[in-house]
Amino acid sequence: MDKLVITGGRRLAGEVAVSGAKNAALPILCASLLTAEPLTLSNVPALNDIRTMLKLLEQMGVKVARDGDSVTLDASGLGNPVAAYELVKTMRASVLVLGPLVARHGEASVSLPGGCAIGARPVDQHIKGLTAMGAEVSVEHGYVNARATRLKGARLFTDMVTVTGTENLMMAACLADGETVIENAAREPEVVDLAQCLNAMGARISGAGTDVIRIRGVERLTGATHRIMPDRIETGTYLCAAAVTGGDVRLTGTSAGYLDAVVDKLMDAGCDIDSEKSPSHEAIHLKAPRRLKAVSIRTAPYPAFPTDMQAQFMAVNAVAEGTAVIRETIFENRFMHAVELIRLGADIKIDGNTAVVTGVDKLTGATVMATDLRASASLVIAGLVAEGETTVERIYHLDRGYERLEDKLAALGAVVRRQKA
Ligand code: UD1
Repeated sequence: MDKLVITGGRRLAGEVAVSGAKNAALPILCASLLTAEPLTLSNVPALNDIRTMLKLLEQMGVKVARDGDSVTLDASGLGNPVAAYELVKTMRASVLVLGPLVARHGEASVSLPGGCAIGARPVDQHIKGLTAMGAEVSVEHGYVNARATRLKGARLFTDMVTVTGTENLMMAACLADGETVIENAAREPEVVDLAQCLNAMGARISGAGTDVIRIRGVERLTGATHRIMPDRIETGTYLCAAAVTGGDVRLTGTSAGYLDAVVDKLMDAGCDIDSEKSPSHEAIHLKAPRRLKAVSIRTAPYPAFPTDMQAQFMAVNAVAEGTAVIRETIFENRFMHAVELIRLGADIKIDGNTAVVTGVDKLTGATVMATDLRASASLVIAGLVAEGETTVERIYHLDRGYERLEDKLAALGAVVRRQKA
Protein backbone atom coordinates (compact mmCIF):
# COMPACT_ATOMS: atom_id res chain seq x y z
CA MET A 1 0.00 0.00 0.00
CA ASP A 2 1.30 3.47 -0.90
CA LYS A 3 2.47 5.84 1.83
CA LEU A 4 2.92 9.58 1.95
CA VAL A 5 6.13 10.87 3.49
CA ILE A 6 5.99 14.48 4.62
CA THR A 7 8.84 16.60 5.93
CA GLY A 8 7.14 19.19 8.10
CA GLY A 9 7.91 22.79 8.78
CA ARG A 10 7.52 24.39 5.33
CA ARG A 11 5.27 27.41 5.05
CA LEU A 12 2.76 26.86 2.24
CA ALA A 13 2.62 29.67 -0.30
CA GLY A 14 1.37 30.08 -3.84
CA GLU A 15 -1.64 29.10 -5.87
CA VAL A 16 -3.48 25.87 -6.43
CA ALA A 17 -6.59 24.93 -8.42
CA VAL A 18 -9.44 23.18 -6.64
CA SER A 19 -11.05 20.21 -8.41
CA GLY A 20 -14.70 19.40 -8.98
CA ALA A 21 -16.67 18.16 -5.97
CA LYS A 22 -16.59 14.42 -5.36
CA ASN A 23 -19.86 14.54 -3.44
CA ALA A 24 -21.62 16.42 -6.25
CA ALA A 25 -20.14 14.30 -9.03
CA LEU A 26 -21.18 10.97 -7.46
CA PRO A 27 -24.96 11.60 -7.42
CA ILE A 28 -24.82 13.45 -10.74
CA LEU A 29 -23.13 10.46 -12.41
CA CYS A 30 -26.08 8.38 -11.14
CA ALA A 31 -28.53 10.89 -12.64
CA SER A 32 -27.40 9.55 -16.04
CA LEU A 33 -29.47 6.42 -15.25
CA LEU A 34 -32.63 8.53 -15.48
CA THR A 35 -32.41 9.15 -19.22
CA ALA A 36 -31.76 7.27 -22.48
CA GLU A 37 -29.94 10.32 -23.86
CA PRO A 38 -26.28 11.25 -23.26
CA LEU A 39 -25.38 13.31 -20.20
CA THR A 40 -22.10 15.21 -20.48
CA LEU A 41 -20.40 16.41 -17.32
CA SER A 42 -17.33 18.61 -16.99
CA ASN A 43 -15.03 19.36 -14.02
CA VAL A 44 -15.32 15.71 -12.94
CA PRO A 45 -12.45 15.01 -10.52
CA ALA A 46 -10.03 12.13 -11.21
CA LEU A 47 -10.58 10.18 -8.00
CA ASN A 48 -10.89 6.54 -7.06
CA ASP A 49 -14.49 7.01 -5.86
CA ILE A 50 -15.40 8.41 -9.27
CA ARG A 51 -13.69 5.48 -11.03
CA THR A 52 -15.60 3.08 -8.77
CA MET A 53 -18.92 4.75 -9.61
CA LEU A 54 -18.15 4.67 -13.36
CA LYS A 55 -17.30 0.97 -13.09
CA LEU A 56 -20.59 0.34 -11.28
CA LEU A 57 -22.54 2.20 -13.97
CA GLU A 58 -20.71 0.34 -16.74
CA GLN A 59 -21.65 -2.99 -15.13
CA MET A 60 -25.27 -1.87 -15.51
CA GLY A 61 -24.87 -1.22 -19.22
CA VAL A 62 -24.09 2.51 -19.17
CA LYS A 63 -21.58 3.56 -21.85
CA VAL A 64 -18.92 5.86 -20.42
CA ALA A 65 -16.58 8.07 -22.46
CA ARG A 66 -13.93 10.16 -20.66
CA ASP A 67 -12.12 13.10 -22.19
CA GLY A 68 -9.92 15.02 -19.75
CA ASP A 69 -12.17 16.19 -16.92
CA SER A 70 -15.32 15.54 -18.99
CA VAL A 71 -17.38 12.39 -18.90
CA THR A 72 -20.26 11.45 -21.21
CA LEU A 73 -22.65 8.80 -19.96
CA ASP A 74 -25.13 7.02 -22.18
CA ALA A 75 -27.64 4.82 -20.36
CA SER A 76 -29.74 3.97 -23.44
CA GLY A 77 -28.61 0.34 -23.13
CA LEU A 78 -29.26 0.05 -19.39
CA GLY A 79 -29.81 -3.64 -18.75
CA ASN A 80 -28.54 -5.00 -15.47
CA PRO A 81 -29.98 -3.04 -12.51
CA VAL A 82 -27.69 -4.67 -9.95
CA ALA A 83 -25.09 -3.01 -7.72
CA ALA A 84 -23.03 -5.89 -6.40
CA TYR A 85 -21.38 -6.10 -3.00
CA GLU A 86 -17.82 -6.11 -4.41
CA LEU A 87 -18.10 -2.48 -5.52
CA VAL A 88 -20.65 -1.19 -3.00
CA LYS A 89 -18.53 -2.30 -0.05
CA THR A 90 -15.74 0.06 -1.17
CA MET A 91 -18.02 3.07 -1.51
CA ARG A 92 -21.22 3.77 0.35
CA ALA A 93 -22.36 6.36 -2.21
CA SER A 94 -23.13 3.43 -4.56
CA VAL A 95 -26.58 3.42 -2.94
CA LEU A 96 -27.29 6.49 -5.10
CA VAL A 97 -28.12 4.20 -8.03
CA LEU A 98 -31.16 2.86 -6.17
CA GLY A 99 -33.61 5.75 -6.73
CA PRO A 100 -32.79 6.36 -10.41
CA LEU A 101 -32.90 2.63 -11.24
CA VAL A 102 -36.34 2.05 -9.72
CA ALA A 103 -37.66 5.22 -11.31
CA ARG A 104 -36.55 4.48 -14.88
CA HIS A 105 -35.92 0.74 -15.01
CA GLY A 106 -38.70 -0.34 -12.63
CA GLU A 107 -36.39 -2.48 -10.54
CA ALA A 108 -33.10 -2.44 -8.70
CA SER A 109 -31.00 -4.67 -6.54
CA VAL A 110 -28.38 -2.84 -4.53
CA SER A 111 -26.08 -4.36 -1.96
CA LEU A 112 -26.45 -2.86 1.51
CA PRO A 113 -23.40 -0.71 2.14
CA GLY A 114 -22.86 -2.21 5.60
CA GLY A 115 -20.86 -0.53 8.33
CA CYS A 116 -17.92 1.70 7.75
CA ALA A 117 -15.19 3.06 9.94
CA ILE A 118 -17.09 6.19 10.97
CA GLY A 119 -20.34 4.56 12.03
CA ALA A 120 -23.24 2.31 11.16
CA ARG A 121 -24.74 4.56 8.46
CA PRO A 122 -27.96 2.72 7.59
CA VAL A 123 -30.08 3.45 4.49
CA ASP A 124 -33.49 3.08 6.15
CA GLN A 125 -34.56 6.59 5.09
CA HIS A 126 -33.87 5.86 1.42
CA ILE A 127 -36.03 2.73 1.72
CA LYS A 128 -38.79 4.50 3.67
CA GLY A 129 -39.04 7.20 1.00
CA LEU A 130 -39.15 4.81 -1.94
CA THR A 131 -41.78 2.71 -0.17
CA ALA A 132 -43.91 5.81 0.37
CA MET A 133 -43.65 6.41 -3.38
CA GLY A 134 -45.17 3.00 -4.01
CA ALA A 135 -42.10 0.84 -4.55
CA GLU A 136 -42.10 -2.70 -3.20
CA VAL A 137 -38.91 -2.97 -1.22
CA SER A 138 -37.41 -6.00 0.48
CA VAL A 139 -34.06 -6.58 2.10
CA GLU A 140 -32.75 -10.09 1.46
CA HIS A 141 -29.32 -11.69 1.50
CA GLY A 142 -27.67 -8.31 2.09
CA TYR A 143 -29.38 -6.64 -0.87
CA VAL A 144 -32.08 -4.00 -1.10
CA ASN A 145 -34.47 -5.14 -3.82
CA ALA A 146 -36.95 -2.59 -5.08
CA ARG A 147 -39.52 -2.63 -7.86
CA ALA A 148 -42.32 -0.39 -9.12
CA THR A 149 -44.16 -0.05 -12.40
CA ARG A 150 -44.22 3.70 -11.95
CA LEU A 151 -43.40 5.52 -8.73
CA LYS A 152 -46.10 7.83 -7.38
CA GLY A 153 -45.49 11.33 -6.07
CA ALA A 154 -45.74 11.48 -2.27
CA ARG A 155 -45.10 13.65 0.77
CA LEU A 156 -41.83 12.44 2.29
CA PHE A 157 -40.32 13.25 5.65
CA THR A 158 -36.90 11.97 6.64
CA ASP A 159 -36.27 11.30 10.34
CA MET A 160 -32.89 13.02 10.15
CA VAL A 161 -31.21 15.19 7.57
CA THR A 162 -29.57 12.82 5.10
CA VAL A 163 -27.60 14.04 2.11
CA THR A 164 -27.58 10.96 -0.12
CA GLY A 165 -31.08 10.08 1.12
CA THR A 166 -32.38 13.44 -0.12
CA GLU A 167 -30.50 12.99 -3.42
CA ASN A 168 -31.76 9.45 -3.99
CA LEU A 169 -35.39 10.42 -3.36
CA MET A 170 -35.12 13.62 -5.40
CA MET A 171 -33.81 11.65 -8.39
CA ALA A 172 -36.49 8.98 -8.02
CA ALA A 173 -39.24 11.61 -7.82
CA CYS A 174 -38.23 13.19 -11.14
CA LEU A 175 -39.92 10.37 -13.08
CA ALA A 176 -42.76 9.70 -10.61
CA ASP A 177 -46.39 10.27 -11.39
CA GLY A 178 -47.42 13.54 -9.69
CA GLU A 179 -45.76 15.80 -7.15
CA THR A 180 -43.31 14.75 -4.45
CA VAL A 181 -42.45 16.95 -1.49
CA ILE A 182 -39.34 16.11 0.54
CA GLU A 183 -39.47 17.69 3.98
CA ASN A 184 -36.47 17.94 6.28
CA ALA A 185 -34.39 17.79 3.10
CA ALA A 186 -30.61 18.24 3.18
CA ARG A 187 -29.60 21.76 2.14
CA GLU A 188 -26.02 20.94 1.12
CA PRO A 189 -24.71 22.75 -2.00
CA GLU A 190 -24.18 19.34 -3.62
CA VAL A 191 -27.96 18.75 -3.44
CA VAL A 192 -28.44 22.07 -5.25
CA ASP A 193 -25.87 21.13 -7.91
CA LEU A 194 -27.68 17.84 -8.51
CA ALA A 195 -31.04 19.64 -8.76
CA GLN A 196 -29.57 22.06 -11.31
CA CYS A 197 -28.31 19.19 -13.44
CA LEU A 198 -31.67 17.37 -13.19
CA ASN A 199 -33.54 20.54 -14.15
CA ALA A 200 -31.22 20.91 -17.17
CA MET A 201 -32.33 17.36 -18.05
CA GLY A 202 -35.97 18.48 -17.97
CA ALA A 203 -36.88 17.78 -14.35
CA ARG A 204 -39.13 20.19 -12.45
CA ILE A 205 -37.51 20.68 -9.07
CA SER A 206 -37.90 23.72 -6.85
CA GLY A 207 -36.71 24.47 -3.34
CA ALA A 208 -33.31 22.70 -3.54
CA GLY A 209 -31.09 24.40 -0.98
CA THR A 210 -34.00 24.73 1.46
CA ASP A 211 -35.42 22.02 3.70
CA VAL A 212 -38.52 21.56 1.55
CA ILE A 213 -37.92 20.33 -2.01
CA ARG A 214 -40.80 19.97 -4.48
CA ILE A 215 -40.50 17.75 -7.52
CA ARG A 216 -43.18 17.55 -10.20
CA GLY A 217 -42.73 14.24 -11.94
CA VAL A 218 -42.27 14.17 -15.72
CA GLU A 219 -42.64 11.31 -18.24
CA ARG A 220 -39.02 11.34 -19.31
CA LEU A 221 -35.76 13.23 -18.91
CA THR A 222 -33.40 14.22 -21.71
CA GLY A 223 -29.65 14.55 -22.14
CA ALA A 224 -27.86 17.68 -20.91
CA THR A 225 -24.47 19.18 -20.20
CA HIS A 226 -23.49 20.24 -16.70
CA ARG A 227 -20.37 21.51 -14.94
CA ILE A 228 -19.72 19.98 -11.48
CA MET A 229 -19.38 22.55 -8.68
CA PRO A 230 -16.02 23.03 -6.92
CA ASP A 231 -15.14 20.72 -4.03
CA ARG A 232 -15.79 22.68 -0.85
CA ILE A 233 -14.17 20.04 1.36
CA GLU A 234 -10.99 19.98 -0.74
CA THR A 235 -11.05 23.78 -0.54
CA GLY A 236 -11.43 23.72 3.24
CA THR A 237 -8.66 21.13 3.56
CA TYR A 238 -6.13 23.31 1.67
CA LEU A 239 -7.21 26.33 3.69
CA CYS A 240 -6.45 24.39 6.89
CA ALA A 241 -3.12 23.17 5.48
CA ALA A 242 -2.16 26.75 4.67
CA ALA A 243 -3.39 27.97 8.06
CA VAL A 244 -1.34 25.57 10.21
CA THR A 245 1.86 26.38 8.33
CA GLY A 246 1.43 30.15 8.70
CA GLY A 247 0.93 30.19 4.94
CA ASP A 248 -0.25 32.55 2.24
CA VAL A 249 -2.26 30.66 -0.36
CA ARG A 250 -4.66 31.42 -3.20
CA LEU A 251 -7.13 28.72 -4.21
CA THR A 252 -8.62 29.12 -7.67
CA GLY A 253 -11.77 27.65 -9.22
CA THR A 254 -13.59 27.67 -5.89
CA SER A 255 -15.76 29.96 -3.85
CA ALA A 256 -15.92 30.95 -0.19
CA GLY A 257 -19.71 31.07 -0.58
CA TYR A 258 -19.86 27.27 -0.28
CA LEU A 259 -18.14 27.18 3.06
CA ASP A 260 -19.11 30.12 5.20
CA ALA A 261 -18.97 28.12 8.44
CA VAL A 262 -15.41 26.98 7.73
CA VAL A 263 -14.21 30.41 6.60
CA ASP A 264 -15.72 31.99 9.72
CA LYS A 265 -13.83 29.58 11.98
CA LEU A 266 -10.53 30.17 10.17
CA MET A 267 -11.05 33.91 10.57
CA ASP A 268 -11.78 33.36 14.28
CA ALA A 269 -8.48 31.46 14.40
CA GLY A 270 -6.77 34.63 13.15
CA CYS A 271 -6.53 34.11 9.38
CA ASP A 272 -7.23 36.85 6.84
CA ILE A 273 -9.48 35.52 4.09
CA ASP A 274 -10.63 37.36 0.96
CA SER A 275 -12.73 36.02 -1.81
CA GLU A 276 -12.45 37.16 -5.40
CA LYS A 277 -15.44 36.85 -7.64
CA SER A 278 -15.81 37.94 -11.25
CA PRO A 279 -17.87 36.45 -14.07
CA SER A 280 -14.74 34.69 -15.39
CA HIS A 281 -13.13 33.44 -12.20
CA GLU A 282 -13.50 32.84 -8.51
CA ALA A 283 -10.77 32.40 -5.92
CA ILE A 284 -10.07 32.48 -2.18
CA HIS A 285 -6.97 33.97 -0.64
CA LEU A 286 -5.87 33.01 2.88
CA LYS A 287 -3.08 34.57 4.87
CA ALA A 288 -2.37 32.96 8.22
CA PRO A 289 -0.91 34.50 11.37
CA ARG A 290 2.31 33.13 12.95
CA ARG A 291 0.21 31.20 15.48
CA LEU A 292 -3.45 30.30 15.20
CA LYS A 293 -5.96 30.68 18.03
CA ALA A 294 -7.97 27.62 19.13
CA VAL A 295 -11.53 27.51 17.75
CA SER A 296 -14.35 25.33 19.06
CA ILE A 297 -16.64 23.67 16.53
CA ARG A 298 -19.84 21.65 16.48
CA THR A 299 -20.70 19.67 13.36
CA ALA A 300 -24.25 19.74 11.99
CA PRO A 301 -26.01 19.62 8.61
CA TYR A 302 -25.39 22.48 6.14
CA PRO A 303 -25.16 25.44 6.51
CA ALA A 304 -23.56 24.63 9.89
CA PHE A 305 -20.03 23.32 10.23
CA PRO A 306 -19.50 20.19 8.04
CA THR A 307 -18.56 16.87 9.62
CA ASP A 308 -16.26 16.35 6.63
CA MET A 309 -14.06 19.22 7.96
CA GLN A 310 -14.03 18.13 11.61
CA ALA A 311 -10.84 16.05 11.42
CA GLN A 312 -8.92 18.80 9.63
CA PHE A 313 -9.92 21.29 12.36
CA MET A 314 -8.71 18.89 15.01
CA ALA A 315 -5.26 19.13 13.39
CA VAL A 316 -5.57 22.93 13.28
CA ASN A 317 -6.48 23.07 16.96
CA ALA A 318 -3.69 20.65 17.86
CA VAL A 319 -1.14 23.40 17.20
CA ALA A 320 -3.22 26.50 18.01
CA GLU A 321 -2.95 28.64 21.10
CA GLY A 322 -5.55 27.68 23.71
CA THR A 323 -8.14 24.94 24.14
CA ALA A 324 -10.94 24.01 21.74
CA VAL A 325 -13.97 21.80 22.19
CA ILE A 326 -15.00 19.77 19.14
CA ARG A 327 -18.47 18.20 19.08
CA GLU A 328 -19.35 15.65 16.40
CA THR A 329 -23.13 15.33 16.04
CA ILE A 330 -23.47 13.52 12.67
CA PHE A 331 -21.47 10.32 13.02
CA GLU A 332 -21.02 8.32 16.22
CA ASN A 333 -17.46 7.18 15.65
CA ARG A 334 -15.59 9.89 13.87
CA PHE A 335 -12.63 10.63 16.15
CA MET A 336 -10.25 7.89 15.04
CA HIS A 337 -7.76 10.47 13.83
CA ALA A 338 -7.39 11.71 17.44
CA VAL A 339 -5.27 8.76 18.57
CA GLU A 340 -3.00 9.20 15.57
CA LEU A 341 -2.68 12.95 16.20
CA ILE A 342 -1.77 12.09 19.80
CA ARG A 343 1.08 9.96 18.41
CA LEU A 344 2.39 13.14 16.79
CA GLY A 345 2.32 14.87 20.19
CA ALA A 346 -1.17 16.42 20.21
CA ASP A 347 -3.02 16.90 23.51
CA ILE A 348 -6.55 15.55 22.90
CA LYS A 349 -9.07 14.10 25.37
CA ILE A 350 -12.12 12.28 24.01
CA ASP A 351 -15.37 11.85 25.88
CA GLY A 352 -18.16 10.37 23.76
CA ASN A 353 -18.84 12.71 20.88
CA THR A 354 -16.71 15.51 22.37
CA ALA A 355 -12.99 16.09 21.95
CA VAL A 356 -11.08 18.64 24.00
CA VAL A 357 -7.97 19.76 22.16
CA THR A 358 -5.31 21.83 23.89
CA GLY A 359 -2.84 23.31 21.44
CA VAL A 360 0.81 22.33 21.84
CA ASP A 361 3.87 24.33 20.80
CA LYS A 362 5.01 21.67 18.38
CA LEU A 363 4.12 18.28 16.94
CA THR A 364 6.84 15.78 16.09
CA GLY A 365 6.85 13.48 13.05
CA ALA A 366 5.93 9.82 13.38
CA THR A 367 4.36 7.01 11.36
CA VAL A 368 0.58 7.26 11.47
CA MET A 369 -2.22 5.31 9.90
CA ALA A 370 -5.20 6.76 8.11
CA THR A 371 -8.59 5.20 8.87
CA ASP A 372 -10.91 7.14 6.60
CA LEU A 373 -10.79 9.85 3.98
CA ARG A 374 -11.00 13.00 6.09
CA ALA A 375 -9.02 11.45 8.96
CA SER A 376 -6.22 10.96 6.46
CA ALA A 377 -6.42 14.61 5.47
CA SER A 378 -6.06 15.68 9.10
CA LEU A 379 -2.91 13.56 9.46
CA VAL A 380 -1.43 15.15 6.34
CA ILE A 381 -2.17 18.62 7.75
CA ALA A 382 -0.53 17.68 11.04
CA GLY A 383 2.45 16.23 9.16
CA LEU A 384 2.95 19.52 7.31
CA VAL A 385 3.52 21.34 10.59
CA ALA A 386 5.20 18.55 12.60
CA GLU A 387 8.94 18.65 13.18
CA GLY A 388 10.79 16.04 11.10
CA GLU A 389 9.27 13.31 8.98
CA THR A 390 5.70 12.02 9.16
CA THR A 391 4.72 8.91 7.24
CA VAL A 392 1.00 8.53 6.56
CA GLU A 393 0.12 4.92 5.78
CA ARG A 394 -2.91 3.53 3.95
CA ILE A 395 -3.31 6.58 1.75
CA TYR A 396 -5.72 4.75 -0.54
CA HIS A 397 -8.32 6.61 1.54
CA LEU A 398 -6.85 9.92 0.35
CA ASP A 399 -6.89 8.75 -3.26
CA ARG A 400 -10.65 8.22 -2.93
CA GLY A 401 -11.26 11.91 -2.38
CA TYR A 402 -8.27 14.17 -3.12
CA GLU A 403 -7.04 14.61 -6.68
CA ARG A 404 -3.22 14.68 -6.95
CA LEU A 405 -2.88 15.69 -3.31
CA GLU A 406 0.89 15.41 -3.14
CA ASP A 407 1.36 17.37 -6.41
CA LYS A 408 -0.90 20.17 -5.22
CA LEU A 409 0.83 20.38 -1.83
CA ALA A 410 4.26 20.28 -3.49
CA ALA A 411 3.19 23.14 -5.77
CA LEU A 412 2.58 25.16 -2.59
CA GLY A 413 6.07 24.36 -1.32
CA ALA A 414 5.42 21.34 0.90
CA VAL A 415 8.01 18.59 1.00
CA VAL A 416 5.93 15.51 0.36
CA ARG A 417 6.47 12.35 -1.64
CA ARG A 418 4.52 9.21 -2.34
CA GLN A 419 6.28 5.99 -1.50
CA LYS A 420 4.94 3.23 -3.71
CA ALA A 421 4.19 -0.07 -2.03
C1 UD1 B 1 -22.88 12.42 2.85
C2 UD1 B 1 -21.50 12.67 2.29
C3 UD1 B 1 -20.45 12.51 3.39
C4 UD1 B 1 -20.82 13.37 4.60
C5 UD1 B 1 -22.25 13.15 5.04
C6 UD1 B 1 -22.70 14.11 6.12
C7 UD1 B 1 -21.75 12.00 -0.03
C8 UD1 B 1 -21.42 11.02 -1.08
N1 UD1 B 1 -21.27 11.75 1.20
O1 UD1 B 1 -22.89 11.07 3.29
O2 UD1 B 1 -19.19 12.88 2.86
O3 UD1 B 1 -19.95 13.06 5.65
O4 UD1 B 1 -23.15 13.31 3.92
O5 UD1 B 1 -22.55 15.42 5.69
O6 UD1 B 1 -22.40 13.00 -0.27
N2 UD1 B 1 -28.72 8.06 8.37
C9 UD1 B 1 -29.61 7.11 8.80
N3 UD1 B 1 -30.45 6.51 7.88
C10 UD1 B 1 -30.39 6.80 6.56
C11 UD1 B 1 -29.50 7.79 6.11
C12 UD1 B 1 -28.65 8.41 7.04
O7 UD1 B 1 -29.67 6.80 9.99
O8 UD1 B 1 -31.15 6.22 5.79
C13 UD1 B 1 -27.83 8.75 9.35
C14 UD1 B 1 -26.36 8.42 9.14
O9 UD1 B 1 -25.99 7.22 9.79
C15 UD1 B 1 -25.69 9.64 9.73
C16 UD1 B 1 -26.66 10.78 9.37
O10 UD1 B 1 -27.90 10.15 9.12
O11 UD1 B 1 -25.58 9.53 11.12
C17 UD1 B 1 -26.27 11.61 8.18
O12 UD1 B 1 -25.90 10.76 7.12
P1 UD1 B 1 -26.06 11.16 5.60
O13 UD1 B 1 -26.29 12.61 5.44
O14 UD1 B 1 -27.02 10.23 4.96
O15 UD1 B 1 -24.59 10.83 5.03
P2 UD1 B 1 -24.28 10.35 3.58
O16 UD1 B 1 -25.31 10.90 2.66
O17 UD1 B 1 -23.99 8.90 3.56
